[in-house]
Amino acid sequence: MKLIACKDYKEMSKKAAKEILELVHSEKRCTLGLATGSTPEGVYKALVEDFNKGETSYKQVSSVNLDEYVGLTKDNPNSYHHYMKSNLFQHIDLPENQQLIPNGVANDLEVECREYEKTIAELGGVDLQLLGIGHNGHIGFNEPRTPFSSRTHVVDLAEKTRKANARFFSDITEVPAQAITMGIETIMESKKILLLISGKSKAEALSKLINGPIDESFPASILKNHPNVTIMADEEAMSLLEEEAVGRQHIL
Ligand code: GLP
Repeated sequence: MKLIACKDYKEMSKKAAKEILELVHSEKRCTLGLATGSTPEGVYKALVEDFNKGETSYKQVSSVNLDEYVGLTKDNPNSYHHYMKSNLFQHIDLPENQQLIPNGVANDLEVECREYEKTIAELGGVDLQLLGIGHNGHIGFNEPRTPFSSRTHVVDLAEKTRKANARFFSDITEVPAQAITMGIETIMESKKILLLISGKSKAEALSKLINGPIDESFPASILKNHPNVTIMADEEAMSLLEEEAVGRQHIL
C-alpha cells in the first residue's frame, strides 16, 4: 500500500480527483468504481469543477457504485442513486445507461446481486475503485466478519454503521436495516484502489489498518494483500500514526 499524506480534506480531494482524471484522459473507455458517504464529496466537487472547464468527457466511461440501501427508491433523497445524481451525475456527461448502482428495490435482491456481478465482469472489471472506510473498518457495506471471499450480496447493517449514517436521515429509525454491497472479493478484483481517509474520527481506523493484522474482523485490512492500493489521508486522520509513517509519500 502507498500512503499519500495530505494536509487537509481539500488537498486530499484534489489529489484523488487528479488521479481519476488521469485515468479518464488516458483510457477513455475505463470503468470507475464509485463510493458514497461524506468522504468522496470533495472529489466529486473537484471533478465537476474540472468538467465545467470543458476539458474532460465521460461519454465513454462507465461507473459502478459500491452499494445501495435496500428499500430506498432512486428518487429517495437518502438513496445512493440520489446522492450520485446530485453530487456528480447531473453535472457531467456520463450517459445514464453507463451509471450502474445496485437496485435496492429489486423484486429479487439475490438476482440483482448476481446481475450486478455479471455487469461488472462484462465491463472487464473496475479500473479504479474509490473507497471510503467505516469506523469499524467496513468497505462498501461489508461489515466486520464478512468473508473475504464474498461477492455482491445483501447485508444486515451493523448498529454502529446505522448510527453513523443516521446523520443523513431525520431519525435513526429511518435508516434501512439492509443494503446491497459489492463483496470484498469483488472490490479486491479492481485493478487499482484509491482509499480516502479524512478527519479525526477516522484516525483509529487508519491506525488499525496500518498496524493491525489482516483479519475479517476489520474488513479493510484485506487491502494489504492488493498489489495496487493508494491511501490518501489527511493530517487529522493520520494523527494516531507513528511519526515515521507520516512521510509525504510512504510505501507500507
Ligand atoms: C457508508 C458507505 C461506505 C463509506 C462509509 C464511510 O457506510 N457505504 O462506502 O465508505 O459510509 O462514510 P463517510 O465517508 O461518510 O464517513
